[in-house]
Amino acid sequence: MIKKGILLAGGLGTRLYPMTLAVSKQLLPVYDKPMVYYPLTTLMLAGVRDVLLISTPADIGSYERLLGDGAKWGMSIKYAAQPKPGGLAQAFLIGEGFLESQGCALVLGDNIFYGAEFQKLLTESAALDDGAAIFAYQVSDPSRYGIASFDERGKVLDLEEKPAKPKSNYAVVGLYFYDKTVTAKAKTLTPSPRGEMEITDLNKLYLQEGKLNVRLMGRGYAWLDTGTCESLIEASSFIEAIQKRQGLMVACPEEIAFRNGWIGRNGLIAQAKSLGGSDYARYLASLADGV
Ligand code: G1P
Repeated sequence: MIKKGILLAGGLGTRLYPMTLAVSKQLLPVYDKPMVYYPLTTLMLAGVRDVLLISTPADIGSYERLLGDGAKWGMSIKYAAQPKPGGLAQAFLIGEGFLESQGCALVLGDNIFYGAEFQKLLTESAALDDGAAIFAYQVSDPSRYGIASFDERGKVLDLEEKPAKPKSNYAVVGLYFYDKTVTAKAKTLTPSPRGEMEITDLNKLYLQEGKLNVRLMGRGYAWLDTGTCESLIEASSFIEAIQKRQGLMVACPEEIAFRNGWIGRNGLIAQAKSLGGSDYARYLASLADGV
């Protein structure tokens, strides 16, 4: 059972310059809330309430101002700095003290997921004790991602990081569940030609052991990218369309904390009051009223 999660919100966001010169990419808005709320609520939906957020030394303070120690959502959120971009798998070395030799979920701060049964997929994956669980999603531009290739019976054959000639259209999304051997495995990795400790190399270690479970996120899911100005606005439009149609929020931490039983009605009201006259605050107040 995975109880801890690492959220990686580092990087320079150079493809979004000048927007990210003064503000960390994962703090930019996706429609009506900061981008980091989306991956954070992914962890919450998986039942993870003990989180380590890793960002750059310059940006850590902004995340702390936004999220605090997590108590307002019935969580524990701690912070650690990644001095230089050294790859995703470095998270397990930075987070070694936090993990205390336990298994962990890792989510990338710019990954947005939406889909029916998402919570079920997450809780099933978080139930793992042995091995790793990752997810593959069909994309039209596979060379931008880590890629999984399969045999005709759906068994994973190989993983490759950003291949020039991808063997499949299945990208590995930025959400991973690992057993307690993850830190020991991460320690054996050597930097790739681009100088990073690659998450794909870590996943390959599980694959070699026959302990990598690759689950398909089918076409009913949305896995959205926020790397460019265009994809950022598309993600905002997508969230806006769903929220307006249903009158329900996507990725609202207060709502998920409330529904998970991590905070009570009074906690929800206190959060609504702290957010002034925003539509977001009104939404929280309406949840507390049971509307
Ligand atoms: C990273 C991973 C890649 C994965 C992607 C998902 O790429 O290295 O395997 O498919 O996240 O968002 P990056 O965003 O660092 O280019």
